[in-house]
Amino acid sequence: MSSVEVRNITKSFGRARALDDVSITFEDGGFFALLGPSGSGKTTLLRTIAGFSFPDTGTIRIGARNVEAVPVEKRDIGMMFQSYALFPNMSVADNVGFGLRVRRVGAAEERRRVAEALDLVQLGDKGGRMPHQLSGGQRQRVALARAIVTQPKVLLLDEPLSALDKTLRVDMQIELKRIQREVGITTIFVTHDQEEALTLSDRIGILRDGRIVQAGTPREVYDHPNSAFAATFLGEANWLPDAALEGLQLPGDRTRHRFAVRPEALTLTDGRPATGNALSARLEQRVFAGAMATCLVRVDGEPWKLVARDRDLPEMAPGSEVWVSWTPEDTLAVPREAAT
Ligand SMILES: Nc1ncnc2c1ncn2[C@@H]1O[C@H](COP(=O)(O)OP(=O)(O)O)[C@@H](O)[C@H]1O
Ligand SMILES: [Mg+2]
Repeated sequence: MSSVEVRNITKSFGRARALDDVSITFEDGGFFALLGPSGSGKTTLLRTIAGFSFPDTGTIRIGARNVEAVPVEKRDIGMMFQSYALFPNMSVADNVGFGLRVRRVGAAEERRRVAEALDLVQLGDKGGRMPHQLSGGQRQRVALARAIVTQPKVLLLDEPLSALDKTLRVDMQIELKRIQREVGITTIFVTHDQEEALTLSDRIGILRDGRIVQAGTPREVYDHPNSAFAATFLGEANWLPDAALEGLQLPGDRTRHRFAVRPEALTLTDGRPATGNALSARLEQRVFAGAMATCLVRVDGEPWKLVARDRDLPEMAPGSEVWVSWTPEDTLAVPREAAT
């Protein structure tokens, strides 16, 4: 296994800058999610690491080796992209063994490693099937087995689960995490789905307009977003209106920060609580969703959202005057961005 280090990578297509001075380290054996909106440069970064795209400037190291000038097939990388395609006229086992035949490992060794890879994705008994005889989820597992059968140093996954329906996607997330742990392979996973990023990864990097705006563990980024963009891209944020700041306990300087509270950190009551930060609000809507409920309230004209256990909420009609409160430690101090 290997770490991957990207330093000062810039990549333009014509006048459009897809990557803008990106530097980031993917630790050995880690599961790293690259998260960002469409067009932020996720795929370009992955393709650059893989060697399908060559950067205008910057360096890429995989393990001890600088690879900017190394072609795709010599970078020792396993890949699975959103539009992965199995060879339709080859059996599952032949699909998985393809990369081994290219490397001329020999028939016996190929059989052994294909069987091992298929066992790993729980398709040990499906080697003789043809791709069209499999379900979508099974084909996805075959593609994954094919990506790891050559025991690459790094696994690159570009929105591999986005074509699957929700239930199957969640099953595959759990499966992917298990396999990654078992094999211990350095994995870089691209997604625009924040829940998926949180579920799977040890670390995440948030991309915006070709730049990594924040990187860290999911908890670090969730609890300490360094920009309004990061605060709202990973999770939801209720922004404290400037007019409401007086009398609140705040964790930072007001000229340099905006303050926010996550929906699950808020408590809704019908009277003002004795301690902590509290603001009066108007209840607009309460949406029952099983054990949890979502309340939409308005604080000084701002729409806020609150999530709580349904049975912890007071019985109140929409339009009622309420209080929202939270402990001061749950206040996010988000650095204001320089005007652009
Ligand atoms: N081959 C290409 N030719 C021209 N523009 C491209 C090409 N690949 C990517 N881009 C542009 O680079 C930017 C980043 O794209 P991409 O890396 O695909 O983003 P993401 O994967 O985050 O959606 C976009 O503005 C996109 O239009
Ligand atoms: Mg993409």
